[in-house]
Amino acid sequence: MTDRNAVIQPDRGQRANALYLVDKAGLDGLLGGLGEGQRAALAAQKFEAGAGEVAIVPDGNGWFAIGGVESRASLRTWCLARLAETLPGGTYRVLAHGGQPPVPRLAAALIGWVAAHYRFDRYRSDAANAEPRVLVTAEAGAIEPALAEAAGIALVRDLVNTPAEDMGPAQLEAEVRAVARKFGAELHVVTGDTLERDYPMVHAVGRAASRHHAPRLIECEWGDPRHPRLAIVGKGVCFDSGGLDLKPSAGMALMKKDMGGAAHALALALLVMERALPVRLHLLIPAVENAVAGNAMRPGDVLRSRAGLSVEITNTDAEGRLVLGDALRRACEMAPDLVIDFATLTGAARVALGPDLPALFARSDDIANALLAAGVACDDPVWRLPLHDGYRDWLKSDIADMVNSHANGFAGASMGALFLDRFVDEKVDWVHFDTFAWRPVARPGRPKGGEALGLRATWAMIRARYGGV
Ligand code: BES
Ligand code: ZN
Ligand code: ZN
Repeated sequence: MTDRNAVIQPDRGQRANALYLVDKAGLDGLLGGLGEGQRAALAAQKFEAGAGEVAIVPDGNGWFAIGGVESRASLRTWCLARLAETLPGGTYRVLAHGGQPPVPRLAAALIGWVAAHYRFDRYRSDAANAEPRVLVTAEAGAIEPALAEAAGIALVRDLVNTPAEDMGPAQLEAEVRAVARKFGAELHVVTGDTLERDYPMVHAVGRAASRHHAPRLIECEWGDPRHPRLAIVGKGVCFDSGGLDLKPSAGMALMKKDMGGAAHALALALLVMERALPVRLHLLIPAVENAVAGNAMRPGDVLRSRAGLSVEITNTDAEGRLVLGDALRRACEMAPDLVIDFATLTGAARVALGPDLPALFARSDDIANALLAAGVACDDPVWRLPLHDGYRDWLKSDIADMVNSHANGFAGASMGALFLDRFVDEKVDWVHFDTFAWRPVARPGRPKGGEALGLRATWAMIRARYGGV
């Protein structure tokens, strides 16, 4: 397996092939500085400096590479990803060819270079040991942050891609435990009977799973208690069959990814600890399997919740909001400065925004705007949807304090968010992401499969908010 941390290295003058970046506007200038044979080689490879195009050019006894980019003057996150996928294995140094302006700033594009080396080969007997493309860069200070973010992306992808049998609540706990141990964070896990008492909705959703996949509430705390408290919560439904309101096969097919919110939460927590953000971190992951068995919760059942609210189950497939409700309540008991949750909560969010854009819900306009701006700045866009007061009544129940699924099919993503809202202390700033956590079609640096969406935007927002990195 490629050591992804080794694919960008500080420039110590090591041997490397030259890599010239060029955009369409700069192509003629570059061509002018080449020999006739070199120009012929480029023509033969039909190189037109389109973004992601690669050409290999003979040079004396050796060769150099040319890579097309959208704009050489401002390299973005993914603009080197295609090159990192298609260049021959080896080591590269970006240089400026005679006549070109100085070497472009690579900092923003390093994440894409590393992320392009991601492979999910856990189950492949022929796991190819492709030779990595190593990039050396003089921007040494940009390497560590880029590697950290790329590691966060890879963690989300790995956790989501792993099938439910191998990424159940117990394995998810083991993943959190491994991260906690690395940073000396405290881990606290509630399972079994205590769960029934303290986290009744987590228990109700998860109790029908086999004992190997028993439900649990995973909590991890890290950092100086005098720092502002940041709670990060993630929906950890390791498989969502729908429960007794069983999903049809097409709807169930991808439901190993229903712990994608937990994967995002853990990856964000990893970044916080790795980069030592000055916060008191509180990570909470309710980890369950929404399974079918004789002891499964039923439509019509009324659940108690940690917050004291009673919830009538009108659809056992609206389970994410139940486990999150208890976890969010727990987070708020510690008087956090900010609560952020990630969840693959509704199909409606995907219908509204498609797989690329996570739906963002926020109580504070300032935080929402900061997230939107950060998303644009770091090529990790998010889109805001409303917590509309006028729809709150739709959660009324005939026999309990609320229902878990409203009867009219309107505004599904907002309704999921409004349900959660009831469990978040009014005084607390709260952000909720309804995310798809999956890329259905590959793009450069972003293979089909589990995907981190909104992770880097959120990381940028909290870095700006808490500073000190
Ligand atoms: N995990 C699903 C939501 C989901 C479905 C996310 C498809 C991504 C893709 C969630 O638990 C669920 O089933 N939600 C229901 C809610 C409904 C019953 C109110 C949904 O979206 O249909
Ligand atoms: Zn569901
Ligand atoms: Zn679900």
